[in-house]
Amino acid sequence: MNPRHLVSAADLTKEEIEALFQETLSLKEALRKGETQDFLRGKTLALVFEKPSARTRISFEVAMTQLGGHAVYLSRDDIGLGVRESVKDFALMAARQVDGIAARTFSHSTIEELAQNSSVPVINALSDYLHPCQALTDLFTIQEKLGRLENVKLAYVGDGNNVARSLAITCAKVGVKFAVASPEGYGLSDDFVEFLKTVVPGDLKDVFSKTTNAQEAVKGADVVYTDVWASMGQEAEAAERKKIFGPFQVNSALLKSARGNCLVMHCLPAHRGQEITDEVIDSPRSIVFDQAENRLHIAKAVLKWLIV
Ligand code: CP
Ligand code: NVA
Repeated sequence: MNPRHLVSAADLTKEEIEALFQETLSLKEALRKGETQDFLRGKTLALVFEKPSARTRISFEVAMTQLGGHAVYLSRDDIGLGVRESVKDFALMAARQVDGIAARTFSHSTIEELAQNSSVPVINALSDYLHPCQALTDLFTIQEKLGRLENVKLAYVGDGNNVARSLAITCAKVGVKFAVASPEGYGLSDDFVEFLKTVVPGDLKDVFSKTTNAQEAVKGADVVYTDVWASMGQEAEAAERKKIFGPFQVNSALLKSARGNCLVMHCLPAHRGQEITDEVIDSPRSIVFDQAENRLHIAKAVLKWLIV
């Protein structure tokens, strides 16, 4: 039987996302009360990571520990996916030994190929194209902070990257208005916007907008979000991007266009002084470390959903 995977938030229905958030909340509460949860006793998760990670690796390793299971970390050099061994052969083999695979890869097709060939759940722990665990965490965090997702506007200012795409998909699923501002040539592609139309139940225009003007995107926003200007794998473009992305810095001046009490988010790691200023990331409106903490609680809920 082909198991459920989490390759994209588009794989989940709105109801499944709501149930996942409910589970996340109850797992977070249980941890706070010191209750032991061991429904993954004897289970093993393989962490297949082609790129560096702090939050994602920690969240899945700690999640497995807290749930009574175990995680095996495998770096790019350990496996040599597609070099030492084909992606398909790795998936067929690993699924005979572990109960789930969380994979962080360059190419999104590597995660899709793992999922196609694995008889155990595959979780996208970030690809060049998507970062669903991050976006699910972010929407959960907004719900936690604002007490609702209805009539919320999230403005994303910066590169039209993996995090931006996953936020756009997850917002479309749960009905949060998503406004994205990126420099010309660095925004979400027309193809992606066409795909988004298939995710939204109604008219995409009601919940999604795209601009090259940061002030316009953050106007009236309840939440302002940013991410690095050069993602992992784009290091060679970093200097060039730094010159282009200046007007897209999340700073106090930009936030004047948002709601007075707007929250500020960043998936981290942050390049302070580039996409976000110290003043903003260290301000009371910044919830970046609540987001980071919630990666753990979402990871546990995802593992419970897919593996138990
Ligand atoms: N936000 C996030 O995924 O962080 P890491 O790259 O450190 O895992
Ligand atoms: N867009 C960033 C996110 C890191 C969590 C990257 O892919 O490097």
